[in-house]
Formats: sequence, structure tokens, C-alpha cells
Amino acid sequence: MDVKGKVIAVTGGASGIGAALSKLFAAEGAKFVALADMDEAGARAVAAEIGEGAKAYKLDVTDEAAVATFAQSVEADAGPIDLYFSNAGIIFSDAPDWTAISQTNAQWDKIWQVNVFAHVLALRAVLPQMLKREGCGFVITASAAGLLSQIGDISYSTTKHAAVGFAESLAINHGDDGLYVACLCPQAVTSKMTAGAEKSSAAGDGIMPADEFARRVLAGMREGRFMIRPHEQVEGYFLNKAKDYDRWVGGMRKFRRHQMAATGKPL
Ligand SMILES: NC(=O)c1ccc[n+]([C@@H]2O[C@H](COP(=O)([O-])OP(=O)(O)OC[C@H]3O[C@@H](n4cnc5c(N)ncnc54)[C@H](O)[C@@H]3O)[C@@H](O)[C@H]2O)c1
Repeated sequence: MDVKGKVIAVTGGASGIGAALSKLFAAEGAKFVALADMDEAGARAVAAEIGEGAKAYKLDVTDEAAVATFAQSVEADAGPIDLYFSNAGIIFSDAPDWTAISQTNAQWDKIWQVNVFAHVLALRAVLPQMLKREGCGFVITASAAGLLSQIGDISYSTTKHAAVGFAESLAINHGDDGLYVACLCPQAVTSKMTAGAEKSSAAGDGIMPADEFARRVLAGMREGRFMIRPHEQVEGYFLNKAKDYDRWVGGMRKFRRHQMAATGKPL
């Protein structure tokens, strides 16, 4: 899968990972990049930086009617969407008491809508037209937290596991229809989400610059990969987990203890 000549939609395009992917895709010859975000001003700024062939759209990815309208607007502006990057995401930590019951029902509802159900709504809006054409794809930004769990944010880890499950099912059920599906599972990448998180457990292996992350994602796409893990360590961690789940949980508990001793909080 390549981006040359493609009409590409990127949600969460105003910032961090979405902005870096959009800029790279435009530089690599995408026909049109649609940057969709609740942060309209941010999306406009990235679109202006890219210049011709990029446009900002105000979108709340949890609003089904708005998602359908977004897909129609992009089609009217540039043609049907070839590649949809369902990337917008949010995070809540278990602060302040760092228990697994600290997050409110409203937080659980919200993060479920953005980190999981938004993928369902986006797919509904674009799948029928994608299945009629060749060379289309749907890419989900999950997280290494969806394969391994992130210490100190239970709703994030849970919803990212669900996002990996959704991507997996999509690849299995529609891969034979010619749809390219990829699941991005990075550890820490520079963005608003990781700003000031240099000492957090999430950044245990460092924070990858977003432009480097984007290059690795495109390399994975060009290899036709479903599972794209831009941080090399993640594959090894995942193998350890598969080999001995109990030992892996023990290792994560140890990591949590070290993090608590070093910073007074698990995240
Ligand atoms: N940065 C990391 O270290 C990291 C690691 C793994 C996974 N991720 C995932 O990458 C994705 C992008 O995050 P980022 O790191 O670039 O963070 P970010 O906060 O810089 O960007 C997220 C963007 O999503 C937008 N957004 C949030 N809710 C939205 C909604 N309801 N509708 C439309 N837009 C909405 C925000 O306005 C923001 O521009 C997320 O899914 C995140 O969970 C990030």
C-alpha cells in the first residue's frame, strides 16, 4: 500500500501523530489530504503548512452524522476516500489516587466513544464505497498499550486493546475483499498527549519524534503490513507476553514498583 495519488483522510490531523502522517503523505505524493479534527484552528494550521492538496475539516469523530457528512464533503472536494486513518484519540489517567476505580463513568463513556466506537462510525461511512474500488485501506491508530497495557491509565489500556481487536476483525473479515487494513501500535511519540511525559513509564524506551514515527508507518504500509510497531522493542515485549503471560504480568508489576519509587506515580 502506498499513498501516491491517494485521497487520504486523517482524523486527529491537527496535532502530533495525525499532523506528522498528513505532512509525510502530502510530501510523498498523496493527491489530497483531509485533516479532520475538533480543533479546527489546529487542523487549518497544518493544512496551511502543507499547502495545495490539503484541507481542514471540523469534525467530532463520535458524531455519526458528522462523520458521514465529512466523508461526503471529502468526496465532493477531491473524490472518494482511498485511505482512512482513524487516528484521533484521548487519554485519561488513573490520577489522583492511582487505583483502577478512579475514573468516572463519564470518562469511561467518553474514551470508549473516541478510542473505539469512532472506528465503527468511520468504517460505516467509507467501507461501502471502498469495497467497490481497488487500492483502498483503513488504518487504525491503536497503541502499544493495546498489546501490552500502559501502567496507570486503565481506560486507555482497555480501549486500545479493543481498538486492536476491531482492527484485527476488520483485517480478517475484509482482507479478502481487497481492503488494506493496518493497526498502528506505537509506544511514546512526540505529541500533545506525551508533552511533559519524559519521565513517565510510557516513555520508558524514550519518545520517538513524530516525523520518524510517520516514516516508519509508511515503510510498514509499503510492506503491506497489518501490525505496524514502529518501536522495535514492542515485538519482543509482545512475544514475552505470549510465551508466559503470568511472568509478563509479574514483570509489569516490577516496572510499576520501580516507577513509583522513582517518581511517586505509576504513569
Ligand atoms: N503520542 C503517543 O505517544 C501515542 C502512543 C500510542 C498511541 N497514540 C495514539 O495516537 C493517536 C493520536 O494521538 P497523538 O499522540 O497525536 O495526540 P494529540 O493529542 O497530539 O492529538 C490527538 C488529536 O485528536 C483530536 N481529537 C480528540 N478527540 C477528538 C474527537 N472526538 N474528534 C476529532 N478529533 C479529536 C485532538 O483535537 C488532537 O488534535 C491517538 O489515538 C493516541 O491514542 C499516541
